[in-house]
Amino acid sequence: MRIETTAVRAARGESAITSALLQIGSLETGIPHVPQIDMSTTYGFHSSSSVADSMDVLLEGGHDAPNPVYARLHNPTVARFEDALAQLEGAEAAVAFASGMAATTALLIAASLEKSGHRKHVVAVRPVYGGSDHLMSTGMLGTEVTWVDSESVGEAIRSDTGLVFIETPANPTLEVIDIAAVARQIKSAGNRMGASVPLAVDSTFATPILQNPIALGADLVLHSATKFLGGHGDVMGGVIACSKDYAVRLRQVRMATGGLLHPLGGYLLHRGLQTLPVRVLEQQKNAIELSERLELHSSVRSVYFPKYDRGGDVHVAGQMRGPGSVLSFCVHSGIPAADVVERLGLITPAVSLGSVDTLIQAPALLTHRIVDAVDRKEAGISEDLLRLSVGLENVEDLWADLDQALKTVSTRSC
Ligand SMILES: Cc1ncc(COP(=O)(O)O)c(C=O)c1O
Repeated sequence: MRIETTAVRAARGESAITSALLQIGSLETGIPHVPQIDMSTTYGFHSSSSVADSMDVLLEGGHDAPNPVYARLHNPTVARFEDALAQLEGAEAAVAFASGMAATTALLIAASLEKSGHRKHVVAVRPVYGGSDHLMSTGMLGTEVTWVDSESVGEAIRSDTGLVFIETPANPTLEVIDIAAVARQIKSAGNRMGASVPLAVDSTFATPILQNPIALGADLVLHSATKFLGGHGDVMGGVIACSKDYAVRLRQVRMATGGLLHPLGGYLLHRGLQTLPVRVLEQQKNAIELSERLELHSSVRSVYFPKYDRGGDVHVAGQMRGPGSVLSFCVHSGIPAADVVERLGLITPAVSLGSVDTLIQAPALLTHRIVDAVDRKEAGISEDLLRLSVGLENVEDLWADLDQALKTVSTRSC
């Protein structure tokens, strides 16, 4: 199946029929067109020994037990979203969490728990989302992080390294990291050390529509599902696509720590996937147009957007099928970034991204405020940088709003 078909159909047909049969016992009365939301926190049983068998499967990180037993162990609605996302990423499995940060937390814990001993060292490349930077830098989960540039990942790997963590395109500078090149460095470091280290890619900005890190050699693909996967700013979630074996580890951590995605969130995210290809491509069209106009605007010093080729197929560093719909830009010095934001009438000043409506914010002030100021500056997140998440409004309306705000502040500052 092609990606648009997978997005619309994955983890739907069969489960809808199964739930219909279970509920009404016959096909005659009609089959619900959409999967039912299962809100149960606990599941009744007839036989103690068979529910104990199900419990064993789930405690070991399995997910296909006949009885879900308890919602912290398994939820069918969340499982449908996980299955669909795994299919879109070309992964064997996926595990969903309460938020992107809950997913990152589980990832850091799972990576550190090797049978051969604790591996709490992480190699990571800046910039990453401010919350992820903070989680690793503070060491609050026992993580010790070495920040390197993307060419030096292999050299930084040690015998106690449990994870390499990169974000591409990166929030908020839109830097693109060559995933396959990082995977190659890890492989040769693994040959040197006699142990393999998993590569995790935060692919939130790209979505599975524009980039599939597993096909490029990554082991784990993380999404803040709060962003494009949901797409409407009304659901928080996180998800990690990975191998079946790694999913077992992640489920065990999720069960122990409880960072669960609520079934209603699972339902909304599964529904969000159906329109993901259309939203991502249409939002991208708007973003390309705005990035080109901003490049030429007299009030704008620089625009940060993954490089792309015009035409049918769009390639970015050979790994993306398009640049996406988040861009950043800097206004000329003397024009405070906050002033631009405050002059906008249509575009919403707000953190978050990937929604159908266009959002703008200054990362140094908000999403990356928690990152040490020196580290932030070194990562290219200047005070005058504005991040724009482009939505589905008409591009002329978006441009009229941006243009008037930029013109007003530049006239005022002269
Ligand atoms: C790239 C990226 N990863 C992870 C996160 C964290 O996700 P959440 O806010 O869903 O916890 C964010 C949030 O902005 C993000 O932008």
